[in-house]
Amino acid sequence: MRFGHFDDAAREYVITTPRTPYPWINYLGCEEFFGIVSHLAGGYCFHRDARLRRLTRYRYNAIPTDAGGRTYYLRDGGDYWTPAWAPVKRELDHYECRHGMGYTRITGARGGVRAELLFLVPLGASAEIHRVTLRNEGRVRKRLRLFSLVEFCFWNALDDQTNFQRNWNIGEVEVDGSTLYHVSEYRERRNHYAYFHVNAPLAGFDTDRESFVGLYNGLHEPQVVVEGEPRNSVARGWQPVGSHAVDLELAPGEERSLVFLLGYAENPPDRKWERPGLVNKAPAREVIARFSTAPQVDAAIAALRAHWDGLLSAFTVRSPDEKLDRMVNVWNPYQCMVTFNLSRSASYFDSGIGRGMGFRDSNQDLLGFVHQIPTRARQRILDLAATQFPDGGAYHQYQPLTRRGNHEVGSGFNDDPLWLILAVAAYTKETGDYAILEEQVPFDNDERTRAPLLDHLRRSFEHVLSNLGPHGLPLIGRADWNDCLNLNCFSETPDEPYQTTGVRDGRTAESVMIAGMFTAIGPEWARLLSHQDRTAEAAQALEAVRRMERAILEHGWDGEWFLRAYDFHGRKVGSRECAEGQIFVESQGWCVMGGVGLGTGQARQALDAVAARLDTRYGIMLQQPAYRSYHLELGEISSYPPGYKENAGIFSHSNPWIMIAETLVGRPDRAFAYYRKLAPAYLEDLSEIHRTEPYVYAQMIAGRDAARHGEAKNAWLTGTAAWNFVAVSQYLLGIRPEHEGLRVNPCLPAEIPEFTATRRCRGATYLVRVRNSGGGGRARLTVDGRALDGDVVPWARPGAVVKVDCVV
Ligand code: GLC
Ligand code: GLC
Repeated sequence: MRFGHFDDAAREYVITTPRTPYPWINYLGCEEFFGIVSHLAGGYCFHRDARLRRLTRYRYNAIPTDAGGRTYYLRDGGDYWTPAWAPVKRELDHYECRHGMGYTRITGARGGVRAELLFLVPLGASAEIHRVTLRNEGRVRKRLRLFSLVEFCFWNALDDQTNFQRNWNIGEVEVDGSTLYHVSEYRERRNHYAYFHVNAPLAGFDTDRESFVGLYNGLHEPQVVVEGEPRNSVARGWQPVGSHAVDLELAPGEERSLVFLLGYAENPPDRKWERPGLVNKAPAREVIARFSTAPQVDAAIAALRAHWDGLLSAFTVRSPDEKLDRMVNVWNPYQCMVTFNLSRSASYFDSGIGRGMGFRDSNQDLLGFVHQIPTRARQRILDLAATQFPDGGAYHQYQPLTRRGNHEVGSGFNDDPLWLILAVAAYTKETGDYAILEEQVPFDNDERTRAPLLDHLRRSFEHVLSNLGPHGLPLIGRADWNDCLNLNCFSETPDEPYQTTGVRDGRTAESVMIAGMFTAIGPEWARLLSHQDRTAEAAQALEAVRRMERAILEHGWDGEWFLRAYDFHGRKVGSRECAEGQIFVESQGWCVMGGVGLGTGQARQALDAVAARLDTRYGIMLQQPAYRSYHLELGEISSYPPGYKENAGIFSHSNPWIMIAETLVGRPDRAFAYYRKLAPAYLEDLSEIHRTEPYVYAQMIAGRDAARHGEAKNAWLTGTAAWNFVAVSQYLLGIRPEHEGLRVNPCLPAEIPEFTATRRCRGATYLVRVRNSGGGGRARLTVDGRALDGDVVPWARPGAVVKVDCVV
């Protein structure tokens, strides 16, 4: 069942009923200021850091599930309603929500009035624009009163929801004409405040929540709206809100727009005050002056569109499959940008409090994003590398505002270091900026310990080799990519976190996944070294990779597939000898991507086992059989009920590894079948089962053992976005930057007999035209009319347009 449809020309998903199976959200902002906005206008916004600089309050796990956000109430005679349907939920004559690239437009109509709410964060400003357009579609004159409402957060989102003995005393506001300022804590340590402005004179305002809503009322019946009269309340303590009341009179057919601006402003410490006791409002006024007329807002929308035109034009495809095209051209890169910006911090599943930027997550997010804005990828690489330790390990997470590693979580996730190499390899191939390798980067942000980035990568590589276990396979540490495989944890009390508890120096538990990663990412390290003319070191690195490959084949092969690990006691994990958890997906994907068993048959055999034992109609499960009881020696993985999350859920992130692996063994039908099972555009008709947005990937889909097989959770912020983009763009469509040039080597089934693609890279444009027989065979290339040896088109000079014809 569908709840809307794609509008490909506008690059929008159009939701046609407010009763979607779950709140379907979008993101505003792509620089420093972000908002999440649901199809009911729920959500919140923040400046840079969802935990430490949150402007508006949002209650997770509320009843109803999506309560509060940016609310606009309309009073029309005795009637009052909300154009985004919630929270008043009066029946609408018309409802539509269009989620687009960095903006959301919600339209509701009732009683002859049509109201459109447009939300966006303009480029170059830390603010949300809310443009409210009202149109009288009836035959009589309308006298309307519009009330806005946002609830301010006391900046630190964790404190805001926990420290009430303090919070109910600190609230302060200033009201200045049509601008409401939230200035709690500004008197003391904060130099920032929030403002909420409208470009119209006010009939009144409210800044105290209780005065506006009423102590025993809900947001669906705030007393001010029910009575129609603002109270001009000034918050002193308790809960500050921002609410404007604006009167409008509309003749039949007449339309009017109001521009609201909800923003963040910061002053230098010596310019905090206009005069004693009066906040310096200059930075807010400057932004207000830039965005308060209709033409200014139109220009901001146009600029945002142009921005996205630019970003999305770096890679485009045209094929006979419109779902493939809309994923590759619009929604997958869009999600990649969002995950790059937010890592795993703020979504409708991530509270914005718990986790900052993940080391492994952000390095992987970069893979799907680097072609869009390489300079931002560069900065991210340097930030990440600065949270590395001298021994090559890394803080698992860091806070975006401070860029400091998070001590609570610490380090010891032994896959982390390798992801940095992969990210830098992708960045240098994309840009040709090898100077980054010479950048001086500190360890653990300690400026006294700077070393070239190349040295950081070397330590990443060495970190694996200096932490090998009894079988010559890498030690797992607290966990590898699978956060829930905690082989050194042994947690018996419910109050301990799995990831940070346990025998920290376990020197026995080994990960075949990290071993596979080493065989796939080690050669990337060697290629970087060769490129820097360090051939001897490159040869040594490759030798280490070959040793690892031998160790995998000797100790990591289970007969029909690759083992997953050895536990603390040296027992096998992911083996047919196990009663539960006999086969895991991760080591199959990574070992094949590393080329292990490619020439000798194990690679295909492992992938056949995946198809036979892990594949379902909704995607590939993480392992089978699911753990039915808690395994002390395995940790969190066995804590989930069967079919959920890492315990045999369809953990979407790992699926593209298998797609890539299938292309490497030359099986396009299987690779593409896996792709289609997961890509949200193909799931639109299953929305009532899948439940999350049909335009973005979700982290997890319930596996076969779950009662609600096929139901997704954790939409948006997942490495699934980046990896699917890598899989589809670089391996299925087969267009992949290498150090020497652009590789064109598609692997698609016969159902995609041809396609054209445009790829911008290193300043040149490559126009690729592919004819495909579907056998997954070799690509024969003609470049600007001349036959090419091999499948790597040499880099052209910036500005050049290169025509590549490809026959598979
Ligand atoms: C808070 C504290 C308490 C302290 C009191 C006065 O109630 O919980 O410990 O004595 O404030 O500052
Ligand atoms: C979550 C984490 C990611 C981890 C994955 C598998 O998505 O963000 O770091 O790799 O779970 O456990």
